[in-house]
Amino acid sequence: MTQLSILKRRTNRAISSRMTLRSIDGAQDKGAENSRLQWPAPERNKDAILEVLVNHIFHTPRQIQKCLEIGAGSGQHAAYFAAKLPDTVWQATDPDPRHVTSIQAWFDLAGLKNTPAPVLLDTRERPWPIRNADAIFCINMIHISPPESFISLFDEATSILSKGGIVYLYGPFSIGGHQVARSNIDFDNKLKAQDPRWGIRDLNEVSTTAKKYGFHLVKTIEMPANNLSVIFKSGR
Ligand SMILES: C[S@@+](CC[C@H](N)C(=O)[O-])C[C@H]1O[C@@H](n2cnc3c(N)ncnc32)[C@H](O)[C@@H]1O
Repeated sequence: MTQLSILKRRTNRAISSRMTLRSIDGAQDKGAENSRLQWPAPERNKDAILEVLVNHIFHTPRQIQKCLEIGAGSGQHAAYFAAKLPDTVWQATDPDPRHVTSIQAWFDLAGLKNTPAPVLLDTRERPWPIRNADAIFCINMIHISPPESFISLFDEATSILSKGGIVYLYGPFSIGGHQVARSNIDFDNKLKAQDPRWGIRDLNEVSTTAKKYGFHLVKTIEMPANNLSVIFKSGR
């Protein structure tokens, strides 16, 4: 095994153990005894997110077929969205091998035809193994990773998406340097205590980065529990 692959395995293990420590939103992984991880957060937010996807992304005549999900985690969202959007091809990815195994287990359970095998993908390790998509979805990832993760996401998205391609982000954001709720201040402090490079991102900062790579903010939608859905479109 090379030095690089040992380092990557250690990084992946560190990400995983921190995820388990925080347990996403305070609850322990259910179903962790088998390979199919079951987390409370995606169960709670999947319908609200699906509604946004259907009303704001899949509603236009522009055909969005190939969907690339970044940081797909347990795979609960991927299996749910792929089943509800059968005209898409839902390509799920995650840098954690245990998550990739879990995603596949959810796909196996659902028996879906539009879900290619999930692949290992860390936004910072480029070029990505998936080379084209019509839309990129990234849910609850950019605050649980260093800023390079979302910067690389937009940078790499320029070569993956064609003109008009979509980047969808979901999660907590501050706006103009202000947290939108007391609970987000507490959550931000918790994140930074785990890793000073983590933390709730500011929507202005993310939009400025997106703009640098040719993406403009087309819609911001308030979601339950002080989260936002944020939709960017490629102008290139
Ligand atoms: C809080 S979980 C969210 C999982 C899933 N999207 C959900 O909402 O249930 C964050 C996920 O992001 C992944 N992740 C962390 N850093 C990443 C990076 N740089 N590139 C891609 N995924 C990353 C983690 O492995 C983890 O599965």
